[in-house]
Formats: sequence, structure tokens, C-alpha cells
Amino acid sequence: MRSTQVIGRMAADLPRGPRAGPLGAPASGARPASGSARPERDGDDDPCTVDDDVVGAVNRELERLFAAGLARCRDLDPVFAEDIAERIARFTVQGGRRIRSRLVWWALRACGGGGAGRAGAGLRMAAALELIQTCALVHDDLMDAALLRRGAPSLHADVTHQYAGAAPGPAARQLGASAAVLAGDLALVWADDAVAGLLLDGRFPPHTAHRLHEVWRGMRTEMVAGQYLDVQGQATAALSPTRALRAARLKSAHYTVERPLHFGAVLAGADTDTTRALRLAGRRAGLAFQLRDDLDDLFADPRTTGKPTGGDVRQGKPTYLLAVAHALAGRAGDRAALDLLEHVVGRTDLTGAELDGLRARLVAVGARDLVQAKITRLARQSLRHLDAADLEPYAATQLRRLLAETTGTPPDAPAPPGRQPAPPPAGPGQASPAGPEQEGAR
Ligand code: IPE
Ligand code: MG
Ligand code: MG
Ligand code: MG
Repeated sequence: MRSTQVIGRMAADLPRGPRAGPLGAPASGARPASGSARPERDGDDDPCTVDDDVVGAVNRELERLFAAGLARCRDLDPVFAEDIAERIARFTVQGGRRIRSRLVWWALRACGGGGAGRAGAGLRMAAALELIQTCALVHDDLMDAALLRRGAPSLHADVTHQYAGAAPGPAARQLGASAAVLAGDLALVWADDAVAGLLLDGRFPPHTAHRLHEVWRGMRTEMVAGQYLDVQGQATAALSPTRALRAARLKSAHYTVERPLHFGAVLAGADTDTTRALRLAGRRAGLAFQLRDDLDDLFADPRTTGKPTGGDVRQGKPTYLLAVAHALAGRAGDRAALDLLEHVVGRTDLTGAELDGLRARLVAVGARDLVQAKITRLARQSLRHLDAADLEPYAATQLRRLLAETTGTPPDAPAPPGRQPAPPPAGPGQASPAGPEQEGAR
């Protein structure tokens, strides 16, 4: 069954909307929502079964986690359960490409892992990463004032709407914002609980549990750091290519690609060289992933992204794309482009025509091509690191495909042309914008 069908089936099993009633009623084939009986595992302890449908196996793991988590929340309070906990469960189950999950799984398999209880551990880690993603997106939409996510109202907008009739506008908006903070926190708590349960249940020797915890701890802090750089850069209107790349790595590249591959390697007990190669592959692909997200903000169809066009520009996000455009225009002495950038970036009331003008300008100064070429280069570097690792062939092929999907670059994409648009000059104390992905390329 295709992954979208699985998610669609699960979505159909779950009630829609905040007042749709209890979540977790056993659908056909579903496990009991609570109770002491150990849930049947659908063969998910068998790695070959998981190989056949990784997304389905992760979704079943999420169902198990939510059945227990929601039961506890309902015991605490039904309003909290309905407004917050059920929203988190629905958001996590109904959406997402499960990129992080699939990366964990195939890295685990590529490193020869998956036996002796490690299949279940891989799925648990994958589910925890999906919850981290939910936390990240719910908080991100609040910070970015984004009203749309995955083609539906973002969580804070949804709660605001739910209470619009019961509370004055500002109070409903404040409630929506508070609910998003708490909902994101709950997703993080559930993720932490899932990982703690895994590390404490005795299946890992202490040194492996310690290593896994180190990766988990590092990953969460990186994301918080990156998100802060993002909003701090926004507030100070700091358009620096170097800072933009650091923020992209920290807020996105690490937890989206590098760390999932790292988890898979540690779960499988991979050696240092293999782990390092996978991490480097993930670091490059992860940066490409975020640079593509930044390009998509302006150049992709919102029906594909599920997000409004131009959100970064309206919010004044100091993305690499905009920072490079600014630097290129400055070097070319393109006053009109500089004026346009200064005029449009950070203006929430931008019109479609003004966005069109910005797009044309980004193309004209070479910023779009430069970012696209960098994505292609990063994607190729990522695959080279992957190919250098000693991996199980079948799983390595899956990883190759996955990394290509993550960067949006087919594995056989032509190399970027020999002569790139020259990168803009680095400011004092800054590296060249084309340089930082080389860092650590030992
Ligand atoms: C968000 O980056 C990164 C995290 C969620 C940690 P963006 O703000 O660019 O993500 P989108 O574009 O809203 O999805
Ligand atoms: Mg953001
Ligand atoms: Mg955002
Ligand atoms: Mg974005």
C-alpha cells in the first residue's frame, strides 16, 4: 500500500475538527486504546516486514504512542485532551512525508541493524522524530505568524477560530498562541517520553543508550538555536549569507537529515567511519533541503507546499536566497534591486504584483540560479559521502533515493555548470557564501 494511502486511511480513522469526539477508538485492525495488554505489534519487530512499508510501520508506532498518551490526557481533563492533545495526534498522524522516519530506518538497515529488538527501537526513534517535527512546526507557525500548514489552518489559527465566538478577538488570538506553545510543548514531552522509555527499558547496553541520548540532546538544542537565529535575524533585518546558512543548518538540516541518519547508525552499532560518512551525507542533504524550502517559498506552487507564497519575504526572514540577492545586487551596483529588496522584505501587506517583481529581480541578479546550483552541488556531495560508506547495498539504494527526494534533486541530475554565478563578496569576518558547506569536509 502506498504511503499516502496509509496516511489517508489513518486520517479517515481519526475524527476531524476540534469537536469531533474521542480520538483513538479502535478502528478495524487497530490496537486497544488503553489497558494493560501488550499491544499486538503487527510483525513490526520483523525488519523485513518494516522494509516493505516503513511509513505504515511508523504510523502504527505513532498510533500506539497516541493511544496511551491520549488516554492519560483524557484522564487529566477532557477539554485539554480535545483542544491540545488530539490536535497534536491528528497533526502528526495525518500529515508529513515521514522523511525523518525513513532516514532513521534505512540508515539502521544500511548499517546492518534491525535484528534483536532493534527494529522496534528504530520505529520508536522514528516516531519520536515525527513528534519533534510536530513540535517544531507548531511553534514555527506561531513564530512565523503562518496561518496555513499542510494546506489547513495552522494550530494557533485553528484554536483562535474555534474560540472566536466565545471570546473577544484579542483574547481568542492570545488563546490560540498559548495553545500552540502548549501543544508544541506536549509534542516535545511525548517525544522525550518515547525516547526515555526506549533508553530505560534495558534493551541497550549502557554505552549505546548513552550515545543515543547524546544525539537526542544535541539535536533538540540545535533546533532551538537555529530557530532563535532565524527570528533574531528577522528582527534585526540582518541579511548575511553566512548567518543564513548557519541558521538553516541548525534549524533544519540537522534534525531533518543528519541526526536521523546518525540515530540509525548508532542504533545499528555502526563504526566511526560509517557513522561519520552518513552524518556528512545528511549534513549536505539537510542544508539543501532548507535552501530548497527557501526557494519554494517564492517559486513553488502553494498547492504543492501547503503554505502561502512569500511568507518569508513578508516576515522579513533573512534567508540565504534573500541574503545572496542583496549581496549580488550590491556588488553589481544594482540600485533598483537593492531598493526593491529594502522596500519589500518585511512588509506584511505585499501584493501579488510586488512579489512577482521581486521574483523577477531575484532571477535577474542571479540569486535564484546561485541557490539552485548550490542545492545541486550539496546533493551531489551528499551522495558522494553516502557512496563512500560501507553499507548494505539494498538499504543504501533506498537511502540514495531518499536523499534525492529530500534535496529535490534526482541522483543523476547533471552537475551545475562549470562557471557558477560568482558568489557575492564575504563581509568582514565572514566566509564566502559558497564555502560553508565545505566546512568539516574532512
Ligand atoms: C522551520 O523553517 C524550521 C523548523 C520547523 C524547525 P521554516 O520556517 O522555513 O519552515 P516552513 O517554511 O514554515 O515550513
Ligand atoms: Mg521559521
Ligand atoms: Mg515557517
Ligand atoms: Mg520555510
